[in-house]
Amino acid sequence: MQVLLADEYGFCFGVERAVEMVEEAISEGDTVRALGPLIHNDQEMSRLAAQGVATISQPIQIQRGETAVIRAHGVTPQVETELRAKASKVVDATCPFVTKVQKLASRAAAQNRHVVVVGNPEHPEMIGVFGYAPENAFVVQDAAEVAALPKLKNPLVVSQTTIKLKNFLEVAEAVKGKTDDEVQVVNTICSATRDRQDAARALAGEVDAFYIIGGRHSSNSRKLLAVCQEQCAKSFLIETGDEINAEDLRGAQRVGVTAGASTPNWLIEKIVKQLEEIGSQLSVL
Ligand code: F3S
Repeated sequence: MQVLLADEYGFCFGVERAVEMVEEAISEGDTVRALGPLIHNDQEMSRLAAQGVATISQPIQIQRGETAVIRAHGVTPQVETELRAKASKVVDATCPFVTKVQKLASRAAAQNRHVVVVGNPEHPEMIGVFGYAPENAFVVQDAAEVAALPKLKNPLVVSQTTIKLKNFLEVAEAVKGKTDDEVQVVNTICSATRDRQDAARALAGEVDAFYIIGGRHSSNSRKLLAVCQEQCAKSFLIETGDEINAEDLRGAQRVGVTAGASTPNWLIEKIVKQLEEIGSQLSVL
C-alpha cells in the first residue's frame, strides 16, 4: 500500500506565524494567555500548554503582568481595546490575510456602504470582521441567504478566508440583484485554503482511501473532507492515528493524506508512518 501526501498540506503561513510569535513570547519569559484556542488542533494546543500557554475565553481573565495573544482569526476592535487595557503586552497574531478583510470592511463602513461577508457568522474570524463594520455588514452563508437582505448601498462583497470559491462567486452574483449600485467584489479567500483544496482534489481521484488530518472544529479541515469525498467515498477526517480503522484500508493500493492548516508537521509525520505500518501488516495477512 502506497501512502501519498497531497502537494500542499498542513500549517499555513498565518498559523505558523502565530505559533512562532507565541514561542518567541515564551522564550522572553512571558506568561502567555491566548484568547481562545490559538489553533484548532488539540494536539498542538497540548504541546503549547506544556510550555505554559493557557487559554482564556474573556479579556477580563487577563491579569496584570501577563501577555495576551490575539490568535490568527483576529478579534473585534472592542475586544482588542479590552485586552490592551488589561494585559502588560499584547501579541497580535491576527493573520495578515484576515487583517485585510477587517480593513476592507472597516473602510467600506466608513464610506457608508454595505458589506456582505460570505462565511459562517459564528466563526471567530467572522465575529471579528463583523466588529469592524457592525452597522453596515451582513454575514451570509450562501446565495439563498442573500434574498433576505434589504436593498444594498454600494455593496462590497468579501469572504471568510476559508470558504469555497464557488459559494463566494454565487453570493457575489446574488448580491447584484439586491442593489442598483455597482458591486465591488474582492475575493479574500486565502490561497493556502485553495492550494490545499486543489492539491487534495488532484489526489482524491487517484486513491482508494483518503485521510484528512485536522481538528474536528477546524473549518478548513472540514472543507478538505468535503472536497475529497466528492471523488473518494472512503475519505475520513481524523485528529489522531487512533482513529484509523485498519478495516477501511483492506484492499487499498493507494492512500492519500492531507492536513488542515492547523495541523503540525510532527503529527502528520506520525500518522503517515502509522498508515505505512498498517499497510505492511495488511500485505502480509
Ligand atoms: Fe491566514 Fe490563510 Fe492561514 S488566512 S491563518 S494563511 S488559512
